[in-house]
Amino acid sequence: MSAAAEPLPPEPPVPAGTPVLEVRSVTKSFGAIGVLRGIDLVLGQGEVLGLVGDNGAGKSTLVKILSGFHQQDGGDIVLGGERVSFHSVAAARSHGIETVYQDLALIPQLSVYQNLFLGHEVTRLGPLRFLDKGAMRKLARQYLDDIHVYVPSIEAEAEQLSGGQRQAIAVARAVRASPKILLLDEPLSAMGARESRLIINLVKDLASSGRVSIIVIDHNYAHLFELCDRINVMQGGRITIDQRVHETSMEELTELMVSSYRRQLEEVQNAGA
Ligand SMILES: Nc1ncnc2c1ncn2[C@@H]1O[C@H](COP(=O)(O)OP(=O)(O)O)[C@@H](O)[C@H]1O
Ligand SMILES: [Mg+2]
Repeated sequence: MSAAAEPLPPEPPVPAGTPVLEVRSVTKSFGAIGVLRGIDLVLGQGEVLGLVGDNGAGKSTLVKILSGFHQQDGGDIVLGGERVSFHSVAAARSHGIETVYQDLALIPQLSVYQNLFLGHEVTRLGPLRFLDKGAMRKLARQYLDDIHVYVPSIEAEAEQLSGGQRQAIAVARAVRASPKILLLDEPLSAMGARESRLIINLVKDLASSGRVSIIVIDHNYAHLFELCDRINVMQGGRITIDQRVHETSMEELTELMVSSYRRQLEEVQNAGA
């Protein structure tokens, strides 16, 4: 009998219903450098949220906190209204968070099918011992065919694949785990046009099911405007812009970013004057 209304976060536009994920005032420093300086972010059920920002803005750091790879210094991560803290990637996974990392896509010495089955144990090979290799190969081939990801051989070691192929396998692996929240850190960066299209369509299919909520980092606005419901901009360790895609345009978003930079620059200059 909990009919209590959820208190709405102050900043529009807020997705309807209890958010799948809320990031509240999350901070993170590496040594003396404050990378995240109070991140506030909301992800609605079934939503695709694009995250943009300069290189070094802290996007990957945020993703690594959400995936349990790093721990934040301050602030809260709230899943479906409940505060959680992840001390490992496995802990985040057990909450239904799957991640395709920008720089940790696959284990190079393992084959395509082995990488694909490292679903919930990226760093330990234990479960593989108990699986029938023939069955795994067959399943892997079938699965990749189903989602139209083509590799020269299921037996090929990951290091023999192109960057785009590796990335496609990493995305396929994350999707295979049927996550509640999928974090994609520049999944298209190493890809050619055909491979990008494949991943974009895969993510769109997934999003249209409404069962998974997605955060995708990409520098290409055209991709983001096609994929996302909303776009957040990270600048100076905070989310400075939160716009619904159907209420903005690439031109407007660019203008907003530029004027936000100008404002921040002025603040820094005024503080130094
Ligand atoms: N493990 C780490 N140790 C020290 N500094 C780091 C580490 N990870 C990231 N950084 C620094 O944090 C900043 C943000 O990095 P990152 O999150 O990768 O940014 P983005 O993904 O937006 O390009 C950068 O200055 C980067 O050098
Ligand atoms: Mg990054």
